[in-house]
Amino acid sequence: MAYQTILTEIRDRICIITINRPDKMNALNKEVFTELEMAVDEVSNNPDIQAAIITGAGQKAFVAGADISEFQQYQRAEAEALARRGQNIFFKIENNRKPIIAAVNGFALGGGCELAMACHFRICSDNARFGQPEVNLGLIAGYGGTQRLTQLVGKGKSMELHLSGQMLNAAEALEWKLVNYVTPQDALIPKAIEILNGIISKAPVALSHVISTVNAAALGAGLQGFEKEISAFGACFDTADMREGTQAFLEKRKAVFTGK
Ligand code: COA
Repeated sequence: MAYQTILTEIRDRICIITINRPDKMNALNKEVFTELEMAVDEVSNNPDIQAAIITGAGQKAFVAGADISEFQQYQRAEAEALARRGQNIFFKIENNRKPIIAAVNGFALGGGCELAMACHFRICSDNARFGQPEVNLGLIAGYGGTQRLTQLVGKGKSMELHLSGQMLNAAEALEWKLVNYVTPQDALIPKAIEILNGIISKAPVALSHVISTVNAAALGAGLQGFEKEISAFGACFDTADMREGTQAFLEKRKAVFTGK
């Protein structure tokens, strides 16, 4: 598929989606949203893809936010529609049954930080910067940032980052548990691929249940989350992969999963 504002590449069952507007710090405009949604749909629907990485083009930015140049023409109704659209696309990432990780290669600000947080987890390069600087523009986050940052780092730290508009560097993001690993820039994509290769060697149906149950916990599902886990645990027993995984363990061999 030929895109104008993103690049996609499938490397051995892993789709690398690169937001590709480096001259505009990979800011998310309407075209990026449309193409990002198409690429995420492709990840969901293409059986040759088992996982994805989202990253940014160039050495400076992952994504420096929503495209501010589109904002001036908006009134309240258009702004709400934009936030809803952004949130819906990010829900598609968050609820994807295939693992999608963010490889944050530079500035992840505003919508860029929100995009990274919608991914299942994040790694970053040592030059990465994270922040929700919308208050500098008289705005707040609109693509789920107030909710996801609070889930990820807790209320106090989330409140401070949103209220101050300040940026975190990579070491601080690691300390705040916003990212799982920090690498040198040239090691970022290889590290993401290494992590995902480990993950996609597991049973795909089990992976999809991990994603949906952990997401339920993050949304504060309470006792319903525990019920969801019981149901998902049971559903694994309907899969051939569970039979194969347990049999392989007992036979002291490596399991061969088929996704069934
Ligand atoms: N929307 C639209 N354009 C953006 C953008 C955004 N969110 N972020 C950067 N750009 C554009 C700049 O306007 C500039 O375009 P130009 O070369 O045509 O003038 C280009 O990207 C390079 O950005 P610049 O600001 O010159 O780079 P810098 O290295 O000095 O600063 C940032 C980098 C990321 C700190 C700075 O661009 C910035 O603060 N961006 C906005 C972040 C933000 O507020 N995001 C939340 C949006 S709701």
